[in-house]
Amino acid sequence: MSAPAARGPIVTIDGPAAVGKTTVGRMLAESLGYLCLDSGLFYRAVALGTVRAGGDPDSPDDALAAAQALRLRFGPDPSGRFAARTFDGACDITEALISPEVDRTVSLVSRIREVRAAMLEPQREALREGNIVALGRDIGTVVCPEADLKIYLDASPDVRAQRRWKERRDAGGQMDIADIRENLHARDRIDSQRSIAPLQAAPDAVIISTDDATPGEVVGAIRAAMAARGLIRGG
Ligand code: CDP
Repeated sequence: MSAPAARGPIVTIDGPAAVGKTTVGRMLAESLGYLCLDSGLFYRAVALGTVRAGGDPDSPDDALAAAQALRLRFGPDPSGRFAARTFDGACDITEALISPEVDRTVSLVSRIREVRAAMLEPQREALREGNIVALGRDIGTVVCPEADLKIYLDASPDVRAQRRWKERRDAGGQMDIADIRENLHARDRIDSQRSIAPLQAAPDAVIISTDDATPGEVVGAIRAAMAARGLIRGG
């Protein structure tokens, strides 16, 4: 058998909701010229599909049917590097994926074993060539335990609620911060207590608290960890 083809580096960033994975991941990917894969979008798309089909997000049959009907595609941003738009077939679902309804149902579909199994291969396929920053809950533990660098981001619930509220407001949404706090809390609970691929840091992950750090500082810390492992030159 021939040796596996060499691939570029894979950096994984896992962590709880609204900890800053997307902001940091995109900034890091852009600074490296890598792609950024946000695995949360896969599960959000399943939740959206289930709800749109009038299904029950707690039903394995309904959620799996939605997962199998997906024709997910990511459109690059103008620089061509990372996913800025998400399509299901020809339909642009980018904004629909961050609706309160999806926020409420996504952790229900993502704890279903059959849904996670169906999402595994597309994620691995997306990582195949490397030169990628992959974001999620279980990327360093389940999807890609062989990643070159695993980061686990953490921040206090209040800081995360504040960030999510600001992000949704900047996107034109109007949400009560108390509702956001409650949703994050509910999702954290389901995500960390589920039996399959629960949210947890990989044993070899570098844990970074983002409570008092700007996105630029977090990116700097990740680049320093990459340099220390010889994945890039300098910091
Ligand atoms: O942006 P935020 O951190 O709030 O959420 P997300 O990354 O878009 O993920 C939404 C939900 O999808 C999470 O709360 C998890 O229930 C699920 N998810 C997962 O189970 N596994 C992943 N690798 C990524 C997301």
